Amino acid sequence: PVLVVDFGAQYAQLIARRVRDANVYSEIVPHNMPVEKILAKNPAALVLSGGPSSVYDDGAPSLDPALVEAGVPVFGICYGFQAMAQALGGTVSHTGLREYGATDATLTGGGVSFLGGTPVMQNVWMSHGDSVTEAPAGFEVLATTEATPVAAFVHEERKLGGVQWHPEVRHSNFGQQALENFLFNVAGLEPTWTTGNVIEEQVERIREQVGDAQVICALSGGVDSSVAAALVHEAVGDQLTCFFIDHGLLRQGEREQVEQDYAETMGIRVVTIDESDRFLGALEGLTDPELKRKAIGREFIRSFEDAQRTLIAELGGSGEDIKFLVQGTLYPDVVESGGGEGAANIKSHHNVGGLPEDLKFDLVEPLRTLFKDEVRAIGRQLGVPEKIVARQPFPGPGLGIRVIGEVTRENLEVLRAADAIARAELTRAGLDEEVWQMPVVLLSQVRSVGVQGDGRTYGHPIVLRPVSSEDAMTADWSRLPYDLLARISNRITNEVQEVNRVVLDVTSKPPGTIEWE
Ligand code: XMP
Repeated sequence: PVLVVDFGAQYAQLIARRVRDANVYSEIVPHNMPVEKILAKNPAALVLSGGPSSVYDDGAPSLDPALVEAGVPVFGICYGFQAMAQALGGTVSHTGLREYGATDATLTGGGVSFLGGTPVMQNVWMSHGDSVTEAPAGFEVLATTEATPVAAFVHEERKLGGVQWHPEVRHSNFGQQALENFLFNVAGLEPTWTTGNVIEEQVERIREQVGDAQVICALSGGVDSSVAAALVHEAVGDQLTCFFIDHGLLRQGEREQVEQDYAETMGIRVVTIDESDRFLGALEGLTDPELKRKAIGREFIRSFEDAQRTLIAELGGSGEDIKFLVQGTLYPDVVESGGGEGAANIKSHHNVGGLPEDLKFDLVEPLRTLFKDEVRAIGRQLGVPEKIVARQPFPGPGLGIRVIGEVTRENLEVLRAADAIARAELTRAGLDEEVWQMPVVLLSQVRSVGVQGDGRTYGHPIVLRPVSSEDAMTADWSRLPYDLLARISNRITNEVQEVNRVVLDVTSKPPGTIEWE
C-alpha cells in the first residue's frame, strides 16, 4: 500500500482518498508508529500529511529521519514537506510571512516528471506559518510563492519530493495531477487498485473466513449494510440470511421497498421482523430526545437478540454453526475509532441503533478498508439497485427523532404522509443528488391558527430541513428553488389534514444539527 502518515491534521483521510482516486491502494498510519512497524507494512510509497502549523511548536509531531532515508519513495505535504526538509538537512524558518487559502505558485520549470505538464503559474491552497527557506542538498527547487522561496522540491533519483501546498484539496487546481505524477512518474507505481479487484479480493477473503458456516446480517436499508450484504452474498450465497427490524418508525413504503429490493432484485434471503408494538410501547409518554433515543437503542438490542434466537431456531442445528455477523463498518469508522489494527469493536452509534457488546459473533466486515464512494462503486458493480446505492442517509432511530414531542401512531401517520410528499417532490425536481438529505420534522407540541376553506384551523407545523454536506459533520441549508418549496408546501397542507403550516429550516450546522433531536 501507499501509507499516509497522519501528522494530526484533518487531511489524512482526504489524502488517502485522493491516492485511491488514482487507483492506488492507500492506508493511514499514525505519525507515532515506529519506523520499523511502518516499513514492515511494506509500503510502496509514503505520503506525509499536513499537521500543526509549525515544526517548532511545543509537542509538534516529529519525523524520524530514518523514515525518509529508508529507500521508500516519500511525498511530503505542507507540514510533512517541512518535516521532511528538516530531516534531510534543509532549513525551515519562521519568516513571519503566512499564507492561508488560495495562493499563486510559480513553477521553475524543473522536476518535469513531478510538476511537469502543469501551468507555470497556478493556484494552490496554502495553510502555513513557517517556510522552507533552503532545500536539502541535492534537491531541486520546483516552485516559489511570494512568501515561500521553496514551495516544492524533488530528488528524482531518491524518489523524494514534496509541496508546501495541499494538493489533496480541490482548490489546488492541479493537485491531483501532482499527486498522480508523483505516484506514477517519480515513485514508479502502477494504477492497479480497481473496484473489480476489491470485489475479487473480498469475496476470496469472506469465503476463507466463513467456510461452510451460516452468516447473518442486520439490514438497515442503508448503503453500507446493503453493500456489505451484497458482497457476502456474492461470496457465500444462501449461507447468508439478512433480517430487517421494522421498528414502526420507518417512512412510507420503506419496509416493502426493502423486501422487494433485496429478496427480488438481489436474491438475498430477508426475514422482516415486525417490532413496531414493542418500540411504540417503549416510546409511550416520552418527549425528551435523549430518553427517546435510549429507549429506541434498548429496544433494538432486545429485538436483535430475539431475532438472533428465532433465526438460529429456524436455520436449525444447535446454532453453533451460526457464528458470523456481517457489519457494514467503513474505513473512516475504523480510523476515527483509532483502530485499523486488532480486535473489531462494535460502535455504540451504529446505524442499526447500537448492537450489544457481548455478542458471541465473529464479525465479517468486508468494507473495513473502504471509503463511502468506493462502497457505492462496489455496490453498483454488484448490481445493488441504484436507489439503494445513492440513498440519502436516514438515521437508525428513524421517524422517532423527527416527531418532536411524543411519538404516537397518529403523529407518525401525519409525519409519514408529509415526508412522502416532500421526498416525492424532491425526486421529481431531480435534486436527490444535490441535496445530502432532507429531514421532514413534525412539531407535535406546537399548534398554530390557520384558515382553510371558510374555516379556522388549529394544526401542527411541518419543518423542511434540506441540507447540503460532504460528510454530515458540517452542513449548510440547501437553497431549494422557491417553486419546489411552494409545491411541497401546497401539497402537504392540502393533503395532510392535521398540518396547516410548512416552514423551512435555514440554519447551518453548526450551530444546528441536521436532525432536530
Ligand atoms: P446530526 O443530527 O447529528 O446528524 O447533525 C448527522 C448525521 O447522522 C444522522 N444521524 C444518525 N444516524 N443513528 C444513525 O444511524 C443515529 O442515531 C443518528 N442520529 C443522526 C443524521 O441523519 C445525519 O445524517
